[in-house]
Amino acid sequence: MARIVHFLYTYLFYLNARLSLASNESISSTMSIDVLPDGCQNLLQSFANETARFTLCVVTNARPITVCEKCVNEFNQVFKRYEEIQKLHNNDSEVDCRAVLTNIDRLQVVYASYNYVLDMWEKASCKLCLNGTVFNDKTRGVMIRGDNLDKCISKHINDTKLSNTSLCADCKQYYVNLTNYYNKHKNDNTFCMDVVDLINNTQSDWSLKWKCHESNYDSEWVLLVISFIVLLMPVLFYFINWLISQERSNVLLSQNRWHQRFTNNAASTSGYVVIS
Ligand SMILES: *[C@@H]1O[C@H](CO)[C@@H](O)[C@H](O)[C@H]1NC(C)=O
Ligand SMILES: *[C@@H]1O[C@H](CO)[C@@H](O)[C@H](O)[C@H]1NC(C)=O
Ligand SMILES: *[C@@H]1O[C@H](CO)[C@@H](O)[C@H](O)[C@H]1NC(C)=O
Ligand SMILES: *[C@@H]1O[C@H](CO)[C@@H](O)[C@H](O)[C@H]1NC(C)=O
Ligand SMILES: *[C@@H]1O[C@H](CO)[C@@H](O)[C@H](O)[C@H]1NC(C)=O
Ligand SMILES: *[C@@H]1O[C@H](CO)[C@@H](O)[C@H](O)[C@H]1NC(C)=O
Ligand SMILES: *[C@@H]1O[C@H](CO)[C@@H](O)[C@H](O)[C@H]1NC(C)=O
Ligand SMILES: *[C@@H]1O[C@H](CO)[C@@H](O)[C@H](O)[C@H]1NC(C)=O
Repeated sequence: MARIVHFLYTYLFYLNARLSLASNESISSTMSIDVLPDGCQNLLQSFANETARFTLCVVTNARPITVCEKCVNEFNQVFKRYEEIQKLHNNDSEVDCRAVLTNIDRLQVVYASYNYVLDMWEKASCKLCLNGTVFNDKTRGVMIRGDNLDKCISKHINDTKLSNTSLCADCKQYYVNLTNYYNKHKNDNTFCMDVVDLINNTQSDWSLKWKCHESNYDSEWVLLVISFIVLLMPVLFYFINWLISQERSNVLLSQNRWHQRFTNNAASTSGYVVIS
């Protein structure tokens, strides 16, 4: 998330630098060749306004991500305006808006801005969630279930009468309904950032903020047993070591006795080696 915002700001800075550069250039170019028709200048102005509005919308809806839902009109506006500029491109007359897109504007500010808008839209995968300017059926299904869960949670937080009952128990059905629905449909890879982010936030809130995640006892037990064994390892190691050393000293003791006997015998038979 932070990366997206950072990216945006970097891009805006870059765009800003380009625009200020271009504005100097366009001033000089309009002075030298008076080619731009009035309509074109207005079109460019509108395009700049709409790109800015889109950027503002994306930045303000970045956390939590509701870009596809909130900025679809801004996006369409930019898209339409660019098409209009491109249509001027098709005019037979030699002097038209095409100059701004290609010859005069060597920096291709319009083109770069447009690409940035498209890129942002593409990154959020908004197409996957939208049917025209509204959410498609699958996405609406997620959003309705998310709203229901939200309502349940905020009801719990606000209503002091409910505060001694468990939020987890009461809202669990909505949570399960939401996650089941999402899991059923996510395999088709048909969700945009709005939905992915909603699910991600919901899941992390559920387990971290509300601490509702039902712990998986089986896996917890397995973990416990494993950690117990691991903790026991050094103790076991020393115990086994002690056992072995105990055995060894026994062997050594008997060896010593045997050796004693052997040397005693050797001494008693004075010179003869007797192996008993
Ligand atoms: C644009 O022009 C102004 C004054 O004409 C100048 O101060 C400024 O540095 C120029 N900007 C760029 C990016 O060239
Ligand atoms: C662009 O926006 C500015 C301020 O928001 C406004 O004054 C101007 O009229 C707008 N231009 C166009 C062409 O919409
Ligand atoms: C381009 O041509 C269309 C019709 O073909 C006309 O309506 C429009 O005004 C023209 N644009 C310019 C800038 O001449
Ligand atoms: C898109 O919306 C139209 C009506 O607004 C509906 O008939 C159509 O089934 C929808 N398509 C999808 C993929 O949701
Ligand atoms: C809970 O309270 C907040 C503000 O304290 C309010 O915005 C919200 O609408 C309330 N929700 C319900 C369900 O009453
Ligand atoms: C909540 O508190 C009320 C009284 O304040 C009590 O009657 C009710 O049993 C409590 N509910 C739970 C789940 O503890
Ligand atoms: C899940 O939510 C939808 C929409 O609110 C509702 O129609 C459906 O009955 C719910 N399913 C369950 C199992 O609660
Ligand atoms: C969910 O959010 C966390 C941090 O908030 C992030 O690390 C993780 O990659 C996200 N998961 C998805 C599927 O976006």
